[in-house]
Amino acid sequence: MYMLKMKDILDEKEKILHEVSEEVTFPLSEEDKKTIQDIIEMLTNSQIPELSEKYDLRPGMGLAAIQLGIKKRYFVVVHEYEEGKFDNYVLINPKIISESSEIIYVGEGEGCLSVNRDVPGIVPRHARVTLEAYDEEGNKIRVRGREELAIAFQHEMDHLNGILFVDKIDKKNPFKNKDLYREI
Ligand code: NI
Repeated sequence: MYMLKMKDILDEKEKILHEVSEEVTFPLSEEDKKTIQDIIEMLTNSQIPELSEKYDLRPGMGLAAIQLGIKKRYFVVVHEYEEGKFDNYVLINPKIISESSEIIYVGEGEGCLSVNRDVPGIVPRHARVTLEAYDEEGNKIRVRGREELAIAFQHEMDHLNGILFVDKIDKKNPFKNKDLYREI
């Protein structure tokens, strides 16, 4: 089995990362199924310190297909909900169907496997979101996320629309409106 490496992930300077991905048609191709499994494995390993060191992986919670140069509307989020325990979310053609009015942000700053530099600033995100999407078999699913999981879903949704978290930071005032939002 091929193991994804950091060099397989496109950097923010690549033009395709700023393009809008296209809807996926079912059944899913064998290639996409394989890609999804590869992403799950890589993201999981990246969050286990011994394995992230062993395979030289930067810790990451989510990855969109476009970050591998695949211009299709799907992403994977691997969420460590308890130490050493992970939930996998595979969302195909996802849409956000509801979101909380409460806004939060990651205090230490958001990260992205395609952004290989420190970018200080605030990215306002909804504290809770509900998404509708399709699973790998083409079944319609509904997924809810709160706190860091909600942020991961919104971050990955943005990738499908060619938007990086750095695009959402106010260049002149990176910490603008900080006090209006809750830090997590
Ligand atoms: Ni990202």
